[in-house]
Amino acid sequence: MSHSFRITSALWDKIHHFASFPQTGVSLQQMVLFGQNPSQGTLLKASQFLSEELPVRLAHRAKELDELPHNLSAMPSIEKVKNWYAQSFEELIKFPPLPALSPEIRRSLFSPPSVANSNPEHQLPSSTPNPSLEHMLLVDDVANQNFPTSLDGSGSNGSLASGSMGFYGGANGSNSGWAIGNGNGNGNGTAVEGFNKLKLRVPMERRYFAAPLSSNIDWPPELRDYNKRFTRLLETIKTRHDPTVTTVAQGVLEWKQSQRARHIGLDMQQWLDRFYLSRIGIRFLIGQHIALNTQESHPDYVGIICTNANVHDIIEEAIENARFVCEEHYALFSSPPVQLICPQNLTFPYVPGHLSHIIFELLKNSLRAVVERHGVGSEGNFPPIKVIVVEGKEDITIKISDEGGGIARSAMGLIWTYMYTTMKLGPGEGLDEGFRDSDFKAPMAGFGYGLPLSRLYARYFGGDLRLISMDGFGTDVYIHLNRLSSSREPLP
Ligand SMILES: Nc1ncnc2c1ncn2[C@@H]1O[C@H](COP(=O)(O)OP(=O)(O)O)[C@@H](O)[C@H]1O
Ligand SMILES: [Mg+2]
Repeated sequence: MSHSFRITSALWDKIHHFASFPQTGVSLQQMVLFGQNPSQGTLLKASQFLSEELPVRLAHRAKELDELPHNLSAMPSIEKVKNWYAQSFEELIKFPPLPALSPEIRRSLFSPPSVANSNPEHQLPSSTPNPSLEHMLLVDDVANQNFPTSLDGSGSNGSLASGSMGFYGGANGSNSGWAIGNGNGNGNGTAVEGFNKLKLRVPMERRYFAAPLSSNIDWPPELRDYNKRFTRLLETIKTRHDPTVTTVAQGVLEWKQSQRARHIGLDMQQWLDRFYLSRIGIRFLIGQHIALNTQESHPDYVGIICTNANVHDIIEEAIENARFVCEEHYALFSSPPVQLICPQNLTFPYVPGHLSHIIFELLKNSLRAVVERHGVGSEGNFPPIKVIVVEGKEDITIKISDEGGGIARSAMGLIWTYMYTTMKLGPGEGLDEGFRDSDFKAPMAGFGYGLPLSRLYARYFGGDLRLISMDGFGTDVYIHLNRLSSSREPLP
């Protein structure tokens, strides 16, 4: 059990070693192209990629959790989360290596792209830097000042030698444990104080190649078995980390109580952004892998990515859910109406769960503002909330406008802060109660996680979230979704 898990010093050494390697970001587009009709061989390459990439990502987080300033890392809930990260890290690096395979199978799995996939159609397109990184990570480091153009040498021409821009693959055809290169100067100068100076790891290395593997190879049963076992491990890990958001939030509360602090500082806020963003990425990779391994094939889905996510339908469902929660909460027969203006046939590749999360949270905010501004007595006469969806060349933009009175300019700086809320909770409704859930299913409001987490979901695939208020009238929220889906995960 996680309670009894202790991080030995040998494990810490390993964590530090892995944390000195950069994380490798993938794009939605790459995931889609890679995961279409996966063969057992393709799934194995995905397992190989994850068995290297996940320990690196987990190690970064475990190390960071251990080094949090202001005594935050000493809080019991933060320690608990750190132990989960370390335990999952250990399980991954101890996962038994591949069984012996015949030379032909090894060759089909691991030969370099030029041999196995000379057909350029089989190469994954390059990813582009995530525009969100630029403004969300204040990286105080000379080496990263040229960000994003000199980020990883891919620039905008995307023509790296041998087309090795993809992901998923054995490290140089090796399955004999850790085979990442020399770190390209990433291991230096990490011992800096404070949150802001934690280094941004740049995915410089091109360890992966990754076009899907041919399906007309007879993959031996050992492969299937290996894939199954690895998927099972990922399921265990995913479940272990279910309560992470709530437990970290609990840790911040413990810290606030111990410091008698009313608000968290900018440094902690930025750390939470990085931490939760990284979690979205880790869970996306894990969720995708589990889905590819366990789901029946479906014409519109590649793992958890819907290749034809229908924006109208997703929003409509979120509207229904948010209005229902609102009616329950305020004991209304009919909550404020929501008008949706959206092309019925607008689809794009996306993870539907991410989009519904965002819309649901924003609508709850708007509904609450309208009800509280106009009073429950105005039932039947509430001004409608308008949701307008427009399709541009790069973006799909969703604007949610309410007449809920807006937000005072003096509060604008706080609304993106975790745990900032103007909701007054009664006894028994506080964080402690809601935190028993594995993820925030905050009934109406009150956790102060709606806006900041929604913005992270938007940014994860290269989008963004903006809020403009007219104090005294209402609020407009703009959700920008990157429809090109080539943008690489932001990896703090
Ligand atoms: N549409 C809106 N109109 C007015 N105030 C808003 C709106 N959206 C958010 N807010 C303000 O921002 C705060 C934080 O929102 P959020 O992060 O969703 O947390 P919560 O809803 O749990 O309070 C809200 O408590 C509210 O004061
Ligand atoms: Mg909210």
